[in-house]
Amino acid sequence: MNGSPSHAPAGFSAESWAAFHRDGLLVVEDALAPEQVDALVAAIEKQQKPTDWNVVASDSRFESMIDHPAHIGYVYDVYGEMLKLLRSEYFKRHPGQEVRNKWHFDGPRALPFDVFSPAAPLRIKVGYWLTPLPVEDRGNLVYIPASHRWPHLPQYHSHDAHPEERQLIVRPGAMTLMWGGLWHRVAENRGALTRLNLFLEYGPTWIVTSDRIGCDKEWLSGLTRRRRILMRDYDHPNRLIKLPDEDVPLFASRPGEPDLEAGRYGDHVPLALRKRSTWMEQEGLL
Ligand SMILES: [Fe+2]
Repeated sequence: MNGSPSHAPAGFSAESWAAFHRDGLLVVEDALAPEQVDALVAAIEKQQKPTDWNVVASDSRFESMIDHPAHIGYVYDVYGEMLKLLRSEYFKRHPGQEVRNKWHFDGPRALPFDVFSPAAPLRIKVGYWLTPLPVEDRGNLVYIPASHRWPHLPQYHSHDAHPEERQLIVRPGAMTLMWGGLWHRVAENRGALTRLNLFLEYGPTWIVTSDRIGCDKEWLSGLTRRRRILMRDYDHPNRLIKLPDEDVPLFASRPGEPDLEAGRYGDHVPLALRKRSTWMEQEGLL
Protein backbone atom coordinates (compact mmCIF):
# COMPACT_ATOMS: atom_id res chain seq x y z
CA MET A 1 0.00 0.00 0.00
CA ASN A 2 1.40 3.37 -0.95
CA GLY A 3 -1.04 5.37 1.14
CA SER A 4 -0.81 9.09 0.49
CA PRO A 5 2.75 10.17 1.21
CA SER A 6 3.22 13.82 2.10
CA HIS A 7 5.63 15.99 0.17
CA ALA A 8 9.20 16.44 1.33
CA PRO A 9 10.06 19.18 3.85
CA ALA A 10 12.03 22.15 2.54
CA GLY A 11 15.63 21.49 1.56
CA PHE A 12 18.14 23.44 -0.47
CA SER A 13 17.56 26.89 -1.90
CA ALA A 14 19.59 28.01 -4.90
CA GLU A 15 21.75 30.01 -2.45
CA SER A 16 22.34 27.23 0.07
CA TRP A 17 23.17 24.76 -2.73
CA ALA A 18 25.67 27.25 -4.16
CA ALA A 19 27.34 27.57 -0.73
CA PHE A 20 27.42 23.79 -0.24
CA HIS A 21 28.80 23.25 -3.75
CA ARG A 22 31.49 25.89 -3.16
CA ASP A 23 32.54 25.08 0.42
CA GLY A 24 31.65 21.39 0.83
CA LEU A 25 30.03 22.28 4.16
CA LEU A 26 26.70 23.95 4.91
CA VAL A 27 25.98 25.14 8.46
CA VAL A 28 22.37 25.60 9.65
CA GLU A 29 22.18 27.04 13.17
CA ASP A 30 19.18 26.23 15.40
CA ALA A 31 18.05 23.34 13.18
CA LEU A 32 16.82 21.49 16.28
CA ALA A 33 14.62 22.87 19.07
CA PRO A 34 16.20 22.88 22.57
CA GLU A 35 13.97 19.99 23.73
CA GLN A 36 15.09 17.89 20.74
CA VAL A 37 18.70 18.62 21.63
CA ASP A 38 18.04 17.60 25.25
CA ALA A 39 16.44 14.33 24.13
CA LEU A 40 19.40 13.41 21.92
CA VAL A 41 21.90 14.38 24.63
CA ALA A 42 20.08 12.08 27.07
CA ALA A 43 20.08 9.27 24.49
CA ILE A 44 23.83 9.57 23.92
CA GLU A 45 24.66 9.92 27.62
CA LYS A 46 22.86 6.61 28.20
CA GLN A 47 25.26 4.85 25.81
CA GLN A 48 28.29 3.13 27.29
CA LYS A 49 30.67 3.39 24.33
CA PRO A 50 32.32 6.59 23.08
CA THR A 51 30.90 5.89 19.61
CA ASP A 52 28.69 3.29 17.93
CA TRP A 53 27.14 2.50 14.54
CA ASN A 54 23.58 1.92 13.35
CA VAL A 55 22.41 3.82 16.41
CA VAL A 56 18.97 4.55 14.94
CA ALA A 57 18.09 0.95 15.87
CA SER A 58 19.23 1.32 19.47
CA ASP A 59 17.02 4.12 20.84
CA SER A 60 13.70 5.64 19.72
CA ARG A 61 15.20 9.11 20.06
CA PHE A 62 17.81 8.24 17.42
CA GLU A 63 15.16 6.42 15.35
CA SER A 64 13.13 9.64 15.15
CA MET A 65 16.07 11.24 13.29
CA ILE A 66 15.92 8.84 10.29
CA ASP A 67 13.55 11.20 8.44
CA HIS A 68 13.76 14.32 10.61
CA PRO A 69 12.29 17.34 8.79
CA ALA A 70 15.31 19.50 9.65
CA HIS A 71 17.47 17.58 7.16
CA ILE A 72 15.50 15.02 5.13
CA GLY A 73 14.41 17.57 2.50
CA TYR A 74 18.04 18.42 1.74
CA VAL A 75 19.18 14.87 1.09
CA TYR A 76 15.94 14.12 -0.79
CA ASP A 77 16.74 17.06 -3.08
CA VAL A 78 19.91 15.26 -4.13
CA TYR A 79 18.99 11.54 -4.07
CA GLY A 80 15.24 11.72 -4.70
CA GLU A 81 13.29 8.48 -4.79
CA MET A 82 16.40 6.37 -4.17
CA LEU A 83 17.33 8.02 -0.88
CA LYS A 84 18.86 5.67 1.73
CA LEU A 85 20.32 6.07 5.21
CA LEU A 86 23.86 4.76 4.78
CA ARG A 87 25.10 5.09 8.33
CA SER A 88 24.17 6.55 11.72
CA GLU A 89 26.59 7.10 14.60
CA TYR A 90 27.09 9.25 17.67
CA PHE A 91 30.35 10.50 19.15
CA LYS A 92 31.33 11.44 22.67
CA ARG A 93 34.57 13.41 22.69
CA HIS A 94 35.75 13.44 26.29
CA PRO A 95 38.03 16.18 27.68
CA GLY A 96 41.65 15.27 27.00
CA GLN A 97 40.70 12.40 24.70
CA GLU A 98 43.82 11.10 22.96
CA VAL A 99 42.21 9.22 20.10
CA ARG A 100 40.66 11.50 17.51
CA ASN A 101 40.33 11.36 13.75
CA LYS A 102 43.31 12.59 11.70
CA TRP A 103 42.95 14.41 8.37
CA HIS A 104 40.82 12.32 6.01
CA PHE A 105 37.78 12.51 3.81
CA ASP A 106 34.88 10.10 4.25
CA GLY A 107 34.34 7.24 1.87
CA PRO A 108 36.61 5.08 -0.28
CA ARG A 109 40.22 6.21 -0.72
CA ALA A 110 41.66 4.04 -3.52
CA LEU A 111 38.91 5.18 -5.91
CA PRO A 112 37.10 8.08 -4.29
CA PHE A 113 33.47 8.88 -5.17
CA ASP A 114 34.49 12.29 -6.44
CA VAL A 115 36.32 10.75 -9.41
CA PHE A 116 32.85 10.00 -10.79
CA SER A 117 30.70 12.69 -9.24
CA PRO A 118 32.19 16.18 -9.15
CA ALA A 119 28.72 17.74 -9.69
CA ALA A 120 27.11 16.23 -6.60
CA PRO A 121 28.38 14.06 -3.74
CA LEU A 122 27.51 10.37 -3.56
CA ARG A 123 27.37 10.64 0.23
CA ILE A 124 26.20 13.55 2.35
CA LYS A 125 26.87 13.46 6.08
CA VAL A 126 24.33 15.26 8.24
CA GLY A 127 25.82 16.32 11.59
CA TYR A 128 23.91 17.50 14.66
CA TRP A 129 26.01 19.36 17.25
CA LEU A 130 24.45 18.87 20.64
CA THR A 131 26.84 20.56 23.09
CA PRO A 132 28.22 24.12 22.97
CA LEU A 133 31.15 24.75 20.62
CA PRO A 134 31.75 28.47 21.33
CA VAL A 135 35.54 28.33 20.91
CA GLU A 136 38.22 26.19 19.28
CA ASP A 137 39.72 23.03 20.78
CA ARG A 138 36.55 21.62 22.32
CA GLY A 139 36.55 18.51 20.14
CA ASN A 140 35.31 20.60 17.19
CA LEU A 141 35.14 19.42 13.61
CA VAL A 142 38.19 20.85 11.80
CA TYR A 143 37.76 21.25 8.05
CA ILE A 144 39.19 23.02 5.02
CA PRO A 145 36.52 24.92 3.08
CA ALA A 146 36.34 23.94 -0.61
CA SER A 147 38.77 21.02 -0.10
CA HIS A 148 36.21 18.49 -1.40
CA ARG A 149 37.81 19.15 -4.81
CA TRP A 150 41.26 18.06 -3.62
CA PRO A 151 42.27 14.44 -4.21
CA HIS A 152 45.39 14.83 -2.06
CA LEU A 153 46.40 16.68 1.09
CA PRO A 154 50.02 16.74 2.33
CA GLN A 155 48.74 16.57 5.94
CA TYR A 156 46.65 13.42 5.23
CA HIS A 157 46.60 10.92 8.12
CA SER A 158 48.19 13.41 10.53
CA HIS A 159 47.05 16.26 12.80
CA ASP A 160 49.43 18.75 11.20
CA ALA A 161 47.81 22.16 10.88
CA HIS A 162 46.71 23.42 7.47
CA PRO A 163 46.82 27.18 6.76
CA GLU A 164 43.19 27.19 5.56
CA GLU A 165 41.73 24.96 8.26
CA ARG A 166 38.75 26.12 10.32
CA GLN A 167 37.12 24.79 13.43
CA LEU A 168 33.35 24.52 13.55
CA ILE A 169 31.96 27.08 16.03
CA VAL A 170 28.21 26.55 16.56
CA ARG A 171 25.44 26.52 19.15
CA PRO A 172 23.78 23.30 20.36
CA GLY A 173 21.10 22.33 17.84
CA ALA A 174 23.16 23.33 14.79
CA MET A 175 23.16 21.06 11.76
CA THR A 176 25.90 20.63 9.19
CA LEU A 177 25.79 18.97 5.79
CA MET A 178 29.18 17.70 4.65
CA TRP A 179 30.11 16.75 1.07
CA GLY A 180 31.60 13.25 1.10
CA GLY A 181 35.04 14.35 -0.13
CA LEU A 182 35.69 17.25 2.28
CA TRP A 183 38.99 17.01 4.15
CA HIS A 184 38.42 17.08 7.91
CA ARG A 185 39.73 15.97 11.29
CA VAL A 186 38.77 16.37 14.96
CA ALA A 187 40.26 18.98 17.29
CA GLU A 188 41.52 18.25 20.79
CA ASN A 189 39.03 18.77 23.59
CA ARG A 190 40.75 21.06 26.12
CA GLY A 191 37.45 22.06 27.73
CA ALA A 192 35.68 20.59 30.73
CA LEU A 193 32.62 19.23 28.88
CA THR A 194 32.27 16.07 26.82
CA ARG A 195 31.41 17.04 23.23
CA LEU A 196 28.39 15.14 21.87
CA ASN A 197 27.17 14.85 18.31
CA LEU A 198 25.13 12.65 15.99
CA PHE A 199 25.90 11.84 12.34
CA LEU A 200 23.43 10.51 9.77
CA GLU A 201 24.85 9.77 6.35
CA TYR A 202 22.74 9.48 3.20
CA GLY A 203 23.19 8.51 -0.43
CA PRO A 204 21.39 6.71 -3.22
CA THR A 205 20.25 3.10 -2.65
CA TRP A 206 23.03 1.79 -4.89
CA ILE A 207 25.79 3.06 -2.62
CA VAL A 208 26.61 0.46 0.03
CA THR A 209 25.66 0.99 3.69
CA SER A 210 28.63 1.06 6.05
CA ASP A 211 27.13 0.44 9.47
CA ARG A 212 25.01 -2.70 8.97
CA ILE A 213 24.44 -5.76 6.80
CA GLY A 214 20.75 -5.88 7.64
CA CYS A 215 18.19 -4.65 10.15
CA ASP A 216 16.48 -6.44 13.01
CA LYS A 217 13.15 -7.48 11.46
CA GLU A 218 11.11 -6.85 14.58
CA TRP A 219 12.55 -3.35 14.94
CA LEU A 220 11.93 -2.68 11.25
CA SER A 221 8.29 -3.78 11.47
CA GLY A 222 7.65 -1.12 14.12
CA LEU A 223 8.85 1.77 11.95
CA THR A 224 6.71 4.20 9.98
CA ARG A 225 6.56 3.52 6.23
CA ARG A 226 9.05 6.26 5.40
CA ARG A 227 11.61 5.24 8.03
CA ARG A 228 11.35 1.60 6.96
CA ILE A 229 11.94 2.60 3.34
CA LEU A 230 14.96 4.77 4.23
CA MET A 231 16.65 1.78 5.91
CA ARG A 232 16.33 -0.08 2.51
CA ASP A 233 16.46 -3.47 4.19
CA TYR A 234 15.49 -5.55 1.16
CA ASP A 235 15.41 -9.33 0.89
CA HIS A 236 17.37 -9.23 -2.37
CA PRO A 237 20.14 -6.78 -3.32
CA ASN A 238 18.59 -6.16 -6.75
CA ARG A 239 15.82 -4.26 -4.92
CA LEU A 240 18.40 -1.53 -4.36
CA ILE A 241 18.54 -1.10 -8.14
CA LYS A 242 14.87 -1.78 -8.99
CA LEU A 243 12.80 -0.40 -6.13
CA PRO A 244 9.78 -2.38 -4.90
CA ASP A 245 6.46 -0.98 -6.17
CA GLU A 246 5.21 -0.36 -2.64
CA ASP A 247 8.19 1.87 -1.78
CA VAL A 248 7.49 4.39 -4.55
CA PRO A 249 6.87 7.26 -4.07
CA LEU A 250 8.84 8.06 -0.96
CA PHE A 251 7.45 11.59 -1.04
CA ALA A 252 4.69 13.18 -3.12
CA SER A 253 5.60 16.05 -5.41
CA ARG A 254 5.97 19.40 -3.70
CA PRO A 255 3.47 22.12 -4.59
CA GLY A 256 4.58 23.82 -7.79
CA GLU A 257 7.27 21.22 -8.52
CA PRO A 258 7.67 20.78 -12.29
CA ASP A 259 7.07 17.28 -13.67
CA LEU A 260 9.90 16.90 -16.17
CA GLU A 261 8.72 13.39 -17.04
CA ALA A 262 5.14 14.36 -17.92
CA GLY A 263 3.98 12.48 -21.01
CA ARG A 264 7.11 10.31 -21.17
CA TYR A 265 5.48 7.05 -20.08
CA GLY A 266 2.41 5.12 -21.06
CA ASP A 267 -0.01 4.01 -18.37
CA HIS A 268 1.39 0.46 -18.58
CA VAL A 269 4.73 1.51 -17.01
CA PRO A 270 4.63 1.14 -13.19
CA LEU A 271 5.63 4.16 -11.10
CA ALA A 272 8.61 2.27 -9.67
CA LEU A 273 10.08 1.82 -13.18
CA ARG A 274 9.76 5.47 -14.19
CA LYS A 275 12.45 8.08 -13.87
CA ARG A 276 11.57 10.89 -11.48
CA SER A 277 13.65 14.03 -11.57
CA THR A 278 15.35 15.24 -8.42
CA TRP A 279 15.27 18.85 -7.26
CA MET A 280 18.82 19.22 -8.57
CA GLU A 281 17.73 18.12 -12.04
CA GLN A 282 14.73 20.44 -11.93
CA GLU A 283 17.06 23.30 -11.06
CA GLY A 284 19.49 22.38 -13.84
CA LEU A 285 22.34 21.82 -11.36
CA LEU A 286 23.64 18.54 -12.84
FE1 LIG B 1 35.10 11.56 8.79
